[in-house]
Amino acid sequence: MTSPPQSEPSSEPQPIELRTRRDTTRLGAALGRSLRAGDLVVLEGDLGAGKTFLVRAIARRLGVPTSIPVTSPTFELLHELPGRIPIVHADLYRLASSESIEELGLLDRIGREAIVLVEWGDRFASELGDDGLWIQLDLTKGTGRTCTLTARGARGQALLGRLLPHLSGFSRAPE
Ligand SMILES: Nc1ncnc2c1ncn2[C@@H]1O[C@H](COP(=O)(O)OP(=O)(O)OP(=O)(O)O)[C@@H](O)[C@H]1O
Ligand SMILES: [Mg+2]
Repeated sequence: MTSPPQSEPSSEPQPIELRTRRDTTRLGAALGRSLRAGDLVVLEGDLGAGKTFLVRAIARRLGVPTSIPVTSPTFELLHELPGRIPIVHADLYRLASSESIEELGLLDRIGREAIVLVEWGDRFASELGDDGLWIQLDLTKGTGRTCTLTARGARGQALLGRLLPHLSGFSRAPE
């Protein structure tokens, strides 16, 4: 008897505190050091949670010059950023259906020469391949943010494994 296919397990969620914008920038730098071509990062969190701010910090660490603005691709849906490793930055907030994600040309980019960073991607997790690092940003009672990192799939686990040694300076948020 054959057992049903098993998807790769998700990691235990890793909650960390980002008390200031500087912490978010440090996390972005740590991610920038850890990301490899082909990796997928899905960023979740309310409007203004800091998703684009984090993408900007990742992009700068990967050498995207400050002359190139890193902003939410809210209307364009996709931005290409010239990092040492090319970056595809998507914002799927306004994307209606899985049909249009097929037309966007985003899915072909995952697992290849670029790093793919997707805001509001969780609705399309299965289309995106469900193999990467999921980052949830939440506003806290004060002015800071909580960030919860969850690796999905083999590639996501490998990325989290590379990232964790760079996270020792962050406080773990209460669960
Ligand atoms: N740890 C932090 N503490 C306080 N403020 C922060 C922190 N991290 C980021 N921010 C602030 O959050 C603001 C909003 O961030 P950003 O525009 O990146 O949100 P977003 O999640 O991309 O929103 P949207 O869904 O509208 O695109 C930034 O201007 C930044 O100053
Ligand atoms: Mg944004």
